[in-house]
Amino acid sequence: MQEREKVWNDFWAEDFTPWVREDSDQFLREHFEQIRAHLPVDLARCRAFVPLCGNSQATRILFDLGMIVTGVELIPKAIRSLRNLFFSDTSPTLGDSESFEAPRIRVIQADIFQFEDETGFDFIYDRAALVALNPKDQQTPYSKKIISLLKPGGLLFVEGFSSSQHTLGGPPYETPITLTRKYYQDLREVECFEQKLSTENPRFVEHGITELNQYQLLFKGG
Ligand SMILES: C[S@@+](CC[C@H](N)C(=O)[O-])C[C@H]1O[C@@H](n2cnc3c(N)ncnc32)[C@H](O)[C@@H]1O
Repeated sequence: MQEREKVWNDFWAEDFTPWVREDSDQFLREHFEQIRAHLPVDLARCRAFVPLCGNSQATRILFDLGMIVTGVELIPKAIRSLRNLFFSDTSPTLGDSESFEAPRIRVIQADIFQFEDETGFDFIYDRAALVALNPKDQQTPYSKKIISLLKPGGLLFVEGFSSSQHTLGGPPYETPITLTRKYYQDLREVECFEQKLSTENPRFVEHGITELNQYQLLFKGG
């Protein structure tokens, strides 16, 4: 197992998942109509992608909205936990991995950098995915992968953060809005939201970070 995979495997093995909070997908819930206004197709035809999906409620929210949802996640324990949002424990998995599939939902156990999809996606929902990856050598290839998976006219949502207090060192990695804009400069920015947040997330607090500059960007594929 590579060191990077081990870090995430250890987080899940120790149940140390401070990014899993009741309000994790609050922005999606509260601003969905604003997001929806930019979707290129109606919900029933919308192919949605949740990269680095963990066990996030977002996959279930998008599924409940009627989209056709794909998630990709590296760590088996995370996928087993996510599966509980959809099925009982006895539901079958796909092949030898923890991947599972049912009408309008599939969750694939894979490294995002190896994942391919021939059709592409109308909507990509990135919450705590870009910022989970190291800006030194992972964020640029990740953003290229995301652009390659976005259909022409498709919509990309990215939530990120920075801090003016201290450096966390990551993961998660502070990713200033200017950096995210640079990654996606070949797409068209259609919305930008910014908030100052206080945080009690232990991962931040232990590094002296109690306030975050959080942002959400919406980009359209060309
Ligand atoms: C910070 S968590 C966010 C999970 C989810 N997006 C959420 O909002 O709850 C990042 C997730 O990415 C997964 N991950 C890390 N590197 C990955 C990779 N290269 N490919 C796929 N998943 C990865 C981790 O196991 C972890 O579940």
